[in-house]
Amino acid sequence: MNTGSTTLRALPKGFLFGASTSAHQIEGNNLASDFWHYENLVDSRLPERSGDACDSYNRWREDMDLLAELGFNAYRFGIEWARIEPEAGRVSAAQVQHYKRMVDYAHSVGLEPVLTLHHFSSPRWFTQLGGWGNVENIDRFLDYLDVIAPILGDGDGAVVTINEPNILAIMTHAFTGAGGSVGALGGGLPAVDQAIADVLITAHDAARQRLQRDHPRLHVGWSVANQVVQYVDGGRDNALQYRENREDQFLRASRQDDFVGVQAYTRTVFDAAGVLAPPSTVDRTLTGWEYYPEALGEAVRHTNEVTGGTPILVTENGIATTDDQQRIAYTTAALAGLAGAMDQGIDVRGYLHWSALDNYEWGRFAPTFGLIEVERNTFARSPKPSARWLGAMAREQVFRS
Ligand code: BGC
Repeated sequence: MNTGSTTLRALPKGFLFGASTSAHQIEGNNLASDFWHYENLVDSRLPERSGDACDSYNRWREDMDLLAELGFNAYRFGIEWARIEPEAGRVSAAQVQHYKRMVDYAHSVGLEPVLTLHHFSSPRWFTQLGGWGNVENIDRFLDYLDVIAPILGDGDGAVVTINEPNILAIMTHAFTGAGGSVGALGGGLPAVDQAIADVLITAHDAARQRLQRDHPRLHVGWSVANQVVQYVDGGRDNALQYRENREDQFLRASRQDDFVGVQAYTRTVFDAAGVLAPPSTVDRTLTGWEYYPEALGEAVRHTNEVTGGTPILVTENGIATTDDQQRIAYTTAALAGLAGAMDQGIDVRGYLHWSALDNYEWGRFAPTFGLIEVERNTFARSPKPSARWLGAMAREQVFRS
């Protein structure tokens, strides 16, 4: 509907409209995890440690209350395996109850929980046993799924088994010292470690089967970091090879899923020589990525093509900026792209903005992606104008541009 200068697009019934976080990035003091260990090494390559992060381990009710009051109907958050099983086989019943309380509370305030079971960080013991590089560890992940059964319950919620397996297969490689550096985005991502990718794909497949067996109403998927690969003259072969390795093999693994999570922020362009740096005139965000809000619509189209129509949930999209008006402009354009893809008939079930909070961006706090500002010493939360703007659309179940 076009009302003067404003275009309103009504969303399909049941559309999930919310925001996303991950456990390690917001909870704080995730002591038994491998990432905490890397951060705190004397010669850590990371400039900042997560420390108390957003203190959401204690303040999760406040986070959910805020999101619900802002108008959202969904919240993607993570459960942290390193808290639930801090030593191999030693399960904390109290932590299982903690996350179960979170799921129950989300429902009680009108937020549909979208649960991430693994988001980059693993228990340190798991990594010491070879992590995702060890095929025998798949059984340990399946044991973890059994342990968290009370959190998943018998409802019809959505779970993301593993967040961005394609980035995880690069990160794990980089952190074990075997591969490139995690921050090498400017020149494109390093190649995935194929042995790790194979284990992740098998683990996801096994996890889906286990979860569908034990929680038949649950919607199971995983979320893939879309690189929105493009090419100019002579760059086609480079582009397609890159995309197959960093993205498509993981998208194909979603063909049997109930949904696939799309995560898109920017694009990667190739010429005959490799990755083409954006021209110096182009705006870059605080992560150094090209400002390219069209990425979302294009990622959704590509995902749909590769999976052959697995329903899509946008599990992450957003911008690291200190200029909240720029966040609104970026998101307006991203949602226009998403609406375009939906108009073509692509089955999109929801949009979850990254991120609910200014959080720990895997080594630094400076790239602020949040709709809600978090004061670093008091942890006071202040919704930004973008939070109210996006929340209002969520309440009305429309995209407005
Ligand atoms: C990850 C998040 C991260 C975000 C922005 C995604 O790669 O899932 O953990 O904070 O992008 O970099």
